[in-house]
Amino acid sequence: MMKSNVAEILKSGTVLQEIALKGWVRTFRSNRFIALNDGSTINNIQCVIDFENTSEETLKRITTGAAISIKGTLAESQGKGQSVEIQVSEIEILGDSNADEYPIQPKKHSFEFLRENAHLRVRTNTFSAVMRVRSKLSFAVHKYFQDNGFNYVNTPIVTGTDAEGAGEMFRVTSFEDNKAPVTEDGEIDYSKDFFGKETSLTVSGQLEAETYAMALGKVYTFGPTFRAENSNTTRHLAEFWMIEPEVAFMDLDGNMDLSEDFIKSVLNYVLEHCKDDLAFLDQRLAQEEKSKPQAERSDMNLIDKLKFVVDNNFKRVSYTEAFDILRNSKPNKKKKFQFPINEWGVDLQSEHERYLVEKHFKCPVILFDYPANIKAFYMRLNDDGKTVRAMDVLFPGIGEMVGGAQREERYDVLVEKMKAMNIDEKELWWYLDLRKFGTAVHSGFGLGFERLVQFTTGMGNIRDVIPFPRTPQNAEF
Ligand code: 4AD
Ligand code: MG
Repeated sequence: MMKSNVAEILKSGTVLQEIALKGWVRTFRSNRFIALNDGSTINNIQCVIDFENTSEETLKRITTGAAISIKGTLAESQGKGQSVEIQVSEIEILGDSNADEYPIQPKKHSFEFLRENAHLRVRTNTFSAVMRVRSKLSFAVHKYFQDNGFNYVNTPIVTGTDAEGAGEMFRVTSFEDNKAPVTEDGEIDYSKDFFGKETSLTVSGQLEAETYAMALGKVYTFGPTFRAENSNTTRHLAEFWMIEPEVAFMDLDGNMDLSEDFIKSVLNYVLEHCKDDLAFLDQRLAQEEKSKPQAERSDMNLIDKLKFVVDNNFKRVSYTEAFDILRNSKPNKKKKFQFPINEWGVDLQSEHERYLVEKHFKCPVILFDYPANIKAFYMRLNDDGKTVRAMDVLFPGIGEMVGGAQREERYDVLVEKMKAMNIDEKELWWYLDLRKFGTAVHSGFGLGFERLVQFTTGMGNIRDVIPFPRTPQNAEF
């Protein structure tokens, strides 16, 4: 009884060893062959039942989804499709699964159907592969930063500040329904609320991370963030995980280098450590592509795409250069963009980002030096007075993967900016303190973890790369 899970057994492949294993039945055919999965790998192990010595009742209870425990011997397989199998000497049904009611039948289910059964969908090949890759990716995130001298900092979930100034926050309150006290002006009196002020779920840990960078030098956050934006797209969640490094004495060029090196490193890690799952997801995507019209099919498979990103430099382009490319582009001239590109200063929409990445450059692109008035207050103003040291990393099929900036480290400039953008200086007194005491050039970025998982696994909808997606009108489970 040496090996304890399917992944280890298949890897060792040593026949004649005694095996004890617990897992779930994927399929059971000919009253003899169980495909058993225990979650340790995408691969099932075939368990061959000695049906003459197994009771009728037990055989009936071996149904898709049932939890079982088996003992037996590993043997070379006679059949096709696997090199080894387990000759079962003992079987015990641990948990029955009523075949008529079990939603996860051994057939293809739509992702919509599986989303409605998010508590069970991880029992399918696709979702178990995605979630194992997600787990390995998050380990790779920590590994990258820990190996490079960063400190992991846990920034608050409940906060009084809107870091992005976009007003898309979920309120946190302990007031009971309709019982919130009001001030003389009839406004809700948050001074009487739990925290004595108005509080919300954080949209980003950046501002607090900056305070730590200004003492620990290199820090990163990796935690949940929340946005009450009513975006029903394949790339938006109301609750998602963000990775935010922040580094003292680093300028925008260093920030671009860091984001590129970081992304390549974590992709390399999963290419190395998730081979079976990526091979499966690669096949899955190839099947999906086949059902698309020729013109929309990608000319690279999933693993090639990942290797392409790892092996090639990201293209670095200023907003102004990108603006010119877009203005002179065919779709703009033929009025194919929903938002035409006419005047310098317009915000780029995902149709523009995708044109740049997928049609024009055909590789990940880092756009930098955006117009000041379409970006957040904390970004460093350039000498031209109209652009800021912002950067967005754009990915094929995803659009914006990373948003970051060199931060405004000059007290006076920052205060001016906050005034102009109606950001409450009193609320952010502590953030301004950083510019009063030992201020320094510093930069950082935020990477949406689910978008990274999406790119890595080739999944089309962000709701399918997080266990229990939170989106408008949906917080089941
Ligand atoms: O560009 P954003 O809004 O930047 C910030 O929040 C900065 N404070 C980050 C920083 O500089 N430390 O968000 C960063 C990234 C986006 O590029 C995107 O990948 C992801 O977070 N993101 C979302 N992912 C899923 N669902 C949403 N609703 C998202 N909004 C942003
Ligand atoms: Mg952004």
